[in-house]
Amino acid sequence: MSTVTASEAAYVVAALLFILSLAGLSQHRTSRSGVVWGIAGMVIALAATVGLASRSLTATGLVLIVLATAVGGGIGLWRARVVEMTGMPELIAIMHSLVGLAAAFVGWNGYLDVDAELSGSLLGIHHAEVFIGVFIGAVTFTGSVIAYLKLSARINSRPLTLPGKHVLNVGALVAFVALTVAFVARPNMGLLIAVTVIALALGAHLVASIGGGDMPVVVSMLNSYSGWAAAASGFLLANNLLIVTGALVGSSGAYLSYIMCKAMNRSFISVIAGGFGTPAAAADEGEQGEHREISAEDTAELLREASSVIITPGYGMAVAQAQYPVAELARKLRERGVEVRFGIHPVAGRLPGHMNVLLAEANVPYDIVLEMDEINDDFAATSVVLVIGANDTVNPAATDNPASPIAGMPVLHVWEAANVVVFKRSMAAGYAGVQNPLFFRDNSQMLFGDAKQRVEDILRALDSLDAPVPEMAGTSR
Ligand code: TAP
Repeated sequence: MSTVTASEAAYVVAALLFILSLAGLSQHRTSRSGVVWGIAGMVIALAATVGLASRSLTATGLVLIVLATAVGGGIGLWRARVVEMTGMPELIAIMHSLVGLAAAFVGWNGYLDVDAELSGSLLGIHHAEVFIGVFIGAVTFTGSVIAYLKLSARINSRPLTLPGKHVLNVGALVAFVALTVAFVARPNMGLLIAVTVIALALGAHLVASIGGGDMPVVVSMLNSYSGWAAAASGFLLANNLLIVTGALVGSSGAYLSYIMCKAMNRSFISVIAGGFGTPAAAADEGEQGEHREISAEDTAELLREASSVIITPGYGMAVAQAQYPVAELARKLRERGVEVRFGIHPVAGRLPGHMNVLLAEANVPYDIVLEMDEINDDFAATSVVLVIGANDTVNPAATDNPASPIAGMPVLHVWEAANVVVFKRSMAAGYAGVQNPLFFRDNSQMLFGDAKQRVEDILRALDSLDAPVPEMAGTSR
């Protein structure tokens, strides 16, 4: 078997492994095996690519490839080991920026190093691929860098609202189409520089226009863009595996964006156009009345009396790493015969499935972890809701206040329960920067402090409430 045939066969195996990986990653139970399939696919893909390239490579070239793989792999391994779960979205965003940058470089290289055998319409197709690859890559690059800066709070997450921002976006797309036609007819570096600059500016503008609360959709959209950028590079490099893998990432990212748009009640088309940022400043509107505080001991009393409890976790549970004591609390209450369930908002936390992963890590049984749509009608018949480090995802302003920056976003109807206890450290706003009227409702009480410590306090209080009362000296028998 020739090297080319062996490599192409290996590519088919790698592509199948990537498909298995995606299937595995779609369920919590199978996600670990999904990761293993993905690693196996990538190892085969890399080995086959280097094998294929080795026919035309010098020894120095091969050494450089091995070195680059070792350095890149080492950095990837280090970052993946040290990243906090809460820092995943920004890590993903910066990784996407590298995919975009690589695609733009591949495009530029395709312009500078044209295969001498190409002529006529094939040469035209090649130049169209160069132009499209550079465009998608550059949009992905700057879009991802801005997303990284926003997600890591290095720049303000408020939406940038330039006058006529939609006209600017559409103008950039029209210019891209016109320049592509001109470039295919008469390729020259001036046009390629122009499209690179336009694409860099468009990527930055698309993401800068999007407000903090809508960033989850941006992350998955950039995931999709990075896939299409890789597929564009695959066409240029005549690499079938890159085309297949890019298309898999591109389409699964687009589908994830669609699911998230539905979850957040946003229009998919307006997301793609980058025009769905919240126009009004999502400023903190200040306190909206009096809030009441509750202690861990009183919360324990409340829970002891409860017949049904729903726990709605959010980003603060991840920050506090409170999932273990929370799981323990759920176990204890269930032992007492209390009906305990978890209500999970699709964008609770900072990445899709964030809460499910944390709860699975703490061995919370899957059958008591319910999605928002499955549990939203049950709050009204619930004795106590524990809101553990969630804020935007339980904000009634999304349903009650059409002027709110999160208006229209479906939320967990926790306020319908008889009692709501909100675990957080202060009266500060959540990720979207909006004040939460839930905190000032008559049936809500605030339990201030780190969520992990407060849940542990409740566990201790429950234990001491259960402990047998020592008999008083002199008490008659
Ligand atoms: P948030 O609205 O971000 O609120 C989290 C709350 O946790 C804050 O109010 C904070 O209040 C509290 N908190 C932080 N650390 C804590 C600790 N150690 N102990 C106790 N409380 C703590 O959370 P959410 O309800 O999960 O909503 C998620 C938000 O993130 C949404 O706006 C969503 O759009 C956005 N987002 C989601 C994703 C994905 S895909 N899930 C990605 C990016 C952005 P204190 O500071 O007062 O403690």
